[in-house]
Amino acid sequence: MMLLRHTVCGTLQGARSLSTRASAILSSLDIPAGAAELPGVYDGQWSGSGDVLESVCPTTGEVLARVRSATPHELHEALGKSKEAYLHLRTVPAPKRGELLRQIREALSAKRDVLGALVSLEMGKIKTEGIGEVQEFVDICDYAVGLSRMMNGRVVASERPGHTILEVPNPIGVVGVLTAFNFPVAVYGWNFSLSVAAGNANVWKPSPSTSLCSIAITKIIARVLEKNGLPGAISTLITGGKDVGEAIVASQDVPLVSFTGSEAVGKVVGKAVQSKFGKSILELGGNNASIIMPDADMSLAVPAVFFGAIGTAGQRCTSTRRLYLHRAIAPKFLDALQKLYATISVGDPLVDDTLLGPLHTRAAVGIYSDAVERLRQSGAEILIGGRKYDHAALSQGNFVQPTIAVPRTTDPADKIWSTETFAPILNVGLFDELEQAIEWNNAVPQGLSSSLWTRDIRNVGKWIGPKGSDAGIVNVNVGTSGAEIGAAFGGNKSTGWGRESGGDAWKQYVRWSACTVNFSDAAPLAQGVNFST
Ligand code: UN1
Repeated sequence: MMLLRHTVCGTLQGARSLSTRASAILSSLDIPAGAAELPGVYDGQWSGSGDVLESVCPTTGEVLARVRSATPHELHEALGKSKEAYLHLRTVPAPKRGELLRQIREALSAKRDVLGALVSLEMGKIKTEGIGEVQEFVDICDYAVGLSRMMNGRVVASERPGHTILEVPNPIGVVGVLTAFNFPVAVYGWNFSLSVAAGNANVWKPSPSTSLCSIAITKIIARVLEKNGLPGAISTLITGGKDVGEAIVASQDVPLVSFTGSEAVGKVVGKAVQSKFGKSILELGGNNASIIMPDADMSLAVPAVFFGAIGTAGQRCTSTRRLYLHRAIAPKFLDALQKLYATISVGDPLVDDTLLGPLHTRAAVGIYSDAVERLRQSGAEILIGGRKYDHAALSQGNFVQPTIAVPRTTDPADKIWSTETFAPILNVGLFDELEQAIEWNNAVPQGLSSSLWTRDIRNVGKWIGPKGSDAGIVNVNVGTSGAEIGAAFGGNKSTGWGRESGGDAWKQYVRWSACTVNFSDAAPLAQGVNFST
């Protein structure tokens, strides 16, 4: 493990010194590396004179930037600008909106690797995953370009002569997009692309700890909008904390709110949106299980569980947190998995060979430690991991050992199984029959992702059918995480509701009208009702 040294490079008055590791990335993205403070609001103009948000590198503890969030007045102004931008964009033909997305796709793709590096720097995920996340934005832009010519309504047969019924999608308004730290780029991409193709303006409130990613993305989008003579507020950025989020959620000018985050906050957001009769898309917790049958191909299943549990240091909503092993193969599987765990290279996520970066915050380290402590106290066997890394080279970052535990109980109602811990902790339970494993899979409150490993088509039928997994993502011989953009993404139960990304997700970003049109010279009533005098 090698962490680059901090090199002092800024000497301007009021400027900040930043390591070369960080300043090289920021400069390539036109973010002034030595600036004392950065404006964190964009609505066609950059502003920001509210509270300061600090962006802290989870690997080194270095303060990467101080970002000025929105004051209540700036927030109000930005929401107003977004409304105006929507009023303009809704009149632009959808395929022209697609052309705009194509240009945005090109601009993002040109900066893909350095944007990916910024994700690694600020969020902490490893380089290949940081780049993959930007690729997700590029992919969903491609998808939305095609969609811009295919957001079709329907023609419905009317029971009345000379009448036609149309189901018509129209733009919905300003869409509020509240994103989490763990996917600081892709989740905005999923929402923004579909929403723009549909003709909406967007207000993005990123996680307060990943402001730099949102600023870099907004700069790239803004340049394309400005070049096309379109209002910048089509992609408004309002950094800030809870108060900013609450104001966006409560605004009558924001009819659709897409929120990614914790179940606790999602509950509050969902109720607030409901109380203004708005629409919401909620992507909340995941507590995802992989089930391994005795006939599974171990050479595929073991690395998939390894990636599912340790990828993004266990901080994907789709991370594998529960592993249900058939008793017949459990010792062999665990042995192979532990061997892989023992080889993990931990360190700076910007270094090529690293597979495990830090947790995003110091607080997350505390949550990890508490969860491991609970496991220990309940008599769980910790097979590997279970503490912070103590080498000196890792001491400035939030590094924790990936952990495999075999809890004493397999009762899915026990907190160990029913609570999502956003860290690389994998709990293992043994089962004898697939039905039992499916029951455990479904018995937790969350329902985002799930995965079954088998070569037997009969098991697949059970798993994807009415008695099968109740999650939003039900995979076979594919791990719980790493979904492609083509399918709709989202969960059930306490994971929330609504879908993002592919599939039918776009249908949420429009308002639907049923339009009955009478082309005839008579005006008959439906159902043969006679109302003549
Ligand atoms: C999330 O963790 O919020 O399927 C999103 C995956 C990614 C997206 C995860 N494509 O793991």
